Amino acid sequence: MAWCFRNIRRHMGMLVRQNFAKSCEKKLNEQINMELKACHQYLAMAYHFDRSDISSPGLHGFFLKASAEEREHAEKIMTYMNKRGGLIVLSSVPEPLPCFPSSLAALKHALKMELEVNQHLLDLHALAGKESDPNLCDFIEANFLQEQVDGQKILADYISQLERAQNDVGEYLFDKYMGTGMHPANRIP
Ligand SMILES: [Fe+2]
Ligand SMILES: [Fe+2]
Repeated sequence: MAWCFRNIRRHMGMLVRQNFAKSCEKKLNEQINMELKACHQYLAMAYHFDRSDISSPGLHGFFLKASAEEREHAEKIMTYMNKRGGLIVLSSVPEPLPCFPSSLAALKHALKMELEVNQHLLDLHALAGKESDPNLCDFIEANFLQEQVDGQKILADYISQLERAQNDVGEYLFDKYMGTGMHPANRIP
């Protein structure tokens, strides 16, 4: 019986839980899943561009780094969830798109995905405000919001540059630039 109470208390995270709404906990779990989905998609992109018949090492490195960052984001939220006494619920990650007709199509897909992630973060922040949870607002602001906007700008810049270089030589040169870090902040959120 004592074991049972200990387990229930542990399960509910009651020891540290304070002012943490169930709705915020649910939304944070959704955010974890979105970060893992992005991690999975960037990993698929990285190894698509590593194929011998495509061979774009710049994009391979760029998307590989992006994948690792998305996993870091998921872990950061999981660490935070435990600090707030929430229950982490991982769900299945959707199958990523396996290949892309061009570098431009991949970057456009990446930007679309980042805008969706950002919208979810904004909704989460609004919910935390509605639930009077300043700690969660601060966590989202300090760790995610600016980084998202910075990364989206970089992706949009890349898309504009690739759109101007619409031939094989242009795409080859773009990938070379990617490999050397054309942007001072050669990373995406
Ligand atoms: Fe992320
Ligand atoms: Fe991201």
